[in-house]
Amino acid sequence: MADARPFQWEYRPAPVAREQYRIEGGRPLGGRVAISGSKNAALKLLAAATLTGERCRFENVPEIEDVRVMAETLRELGVVVDHPAPNVYEVAAGDIDWLFVPLEAAARMRASFILLGPLLARRGQVIISNPGGDRIGRRPVNFHVDAMRALGAEIDYRYGYYYAKAPGRLRGAEIRFPTVTVMGTENALLAATLAVGHTTIEPAAREPEVDDLIAFLRKMGAEVERTAPDRIEVEGRRRLRGAEHRVLPDRIEAGTFVVAAAVTGGQVRLEGAPCDHLGAFLEVAGRVGVGIACGSDWIEVDGRALAADGYRATDIETAPYPGLATDLQPPTCVLLTQAVGTSRVHETVFEDRLEWLAELARMGADVTVHDAHHATIRGRTRLRGATTEIGDLRAGASLILAALAAEGESVVRGAHHVERGYENIEEKFRALGARIERQPEIPPGERP
Ligand code: EPU
Repeated sequence: MADARPFQWEYRPAPVAREQYRIEGGRPLGGRVAISGSKNAALKLLAAATLTGERCRFENVPEIEDVRVMAETLRELGVVVDHPAPNVYEVAAGDIDWLFVPLEAAARMRASFILLGPLLARRGQVIISNPGGDRIGRRPVNFHVDAMRALGAEIDYRYGYYYAKAPGRLRGAEIRFPTVTVMGTENALLAATLAVGHTTIEPAAREPEVDDLIAFLRKMGAEVERTAPDRIEVEGRRRLRGAEHRVLPDRIEAGTFVVAAAVTGGQVRLEGAPCDHLGAFLEVAGRVGVGIACGSDWIEVDGRALAADGYRATDIETAPYPGLATDLQPPTCVLLTQAVGTSRVHETVFEDRLEWLAELARMGADVTVHDAHHATIRGRTRLRGATTEIGDLRAGASLILAALAAEGESVVRGAHHVERGYENIEEKFRALGARIERQPEIPPGERP
């Protein structure tokens, strides 16, 4: 591939201006909060826009770091990405100059790997960095690579990069994943829209964000259909056209605010909240004793039972949709610290996603982590303010939740992890009456 840039043999991440949240807890939250567009839908929609040379327009795109990284990665490829108004992005991929997604992009955001499918299908070749692991486990990409091979791509792996080529066009195929994979399904789906012939993807992820992507692809002229709950079929087309789309609301952000209201004993109304997409999670919240009322696009949370009898312990198990989302496991664990009795937590999707519980324990939570997938939480604990360190996005949001519930002041370090995926989180919490501010990080040992 002549147009690939030279490798960088050594990757040194750009220094991040480290910030921390300072939170004074123990105040019930109250009022209304508007739920933003979904991170995990928006990233794939922006990538899908590279399937056509025509302009695509997206509304309700969350203003978060991961979206900025995706926009920057696309611009580096020669794609025009405009941001004409807050929450609006326009993408025109008429010219794609580089077919190289560098380590810098992959290191900043694992979701950059979603560009494999569309670039391969549209341009027939791509060199893309292995996104490797992160703080919630190894997170390999073998399912994505195998799916592309099934579609006829030739892929070599050298020096941390996948070299992918499609001699001629990709060819439709029967893709069978060993287990359900969200981005694997999406990568296969994106590639299949421009392949020759028919593709079947099974088991296909059932997450609402996958269906939002399907809805957008259909507007682009793609022939895609979910023909069974876990099967997606695609009839490849030669060309797709530009389209407009409004990103669906973020169910994980919504779940995070449900827990915020519950653990502070507050009353909050979530506006534009996807009640239908939160079935398993709201069922757990209700079982624990949180008051939940749902409308077509709102959720009302009543956490007053906390001050009365407290919540009730319950066992939880994460699973692919429609099960309890692994991304809501950390917030749910914070909720379980406020429940009387013993709750068992079974994380089935990722390994190492329970590690963050050690930070929660610094705030007084009674937590035992048995192995990579199992933990026990005993409650109810009066959490107390402490200094904690964020390791990943969802754990970070959950440490904020714990700090909001805790007595006294907390410092939650590593705010950049949270900014990756939550739009204006501290402004939203402040509008609900929380005392939270972001400030430059003060090195441990130094007095503020
Ligand atoms: N897996 C493999 N090989 C692969 C792909 C996945 O072994 O090639 C394994 C994973 O290690 C995991 C399981 O399969 O054990 C399922 O992973 P999946 O592929 O479904 O995860 P993902 O697509 O990489 C997306 C979200 C995650 C969310 C998971 C599960 C995006 C950008 N990310 O990841 O979101 O936790 O689905 O719902 O859509 C987050 O937003 O904080 C986040 C981590």
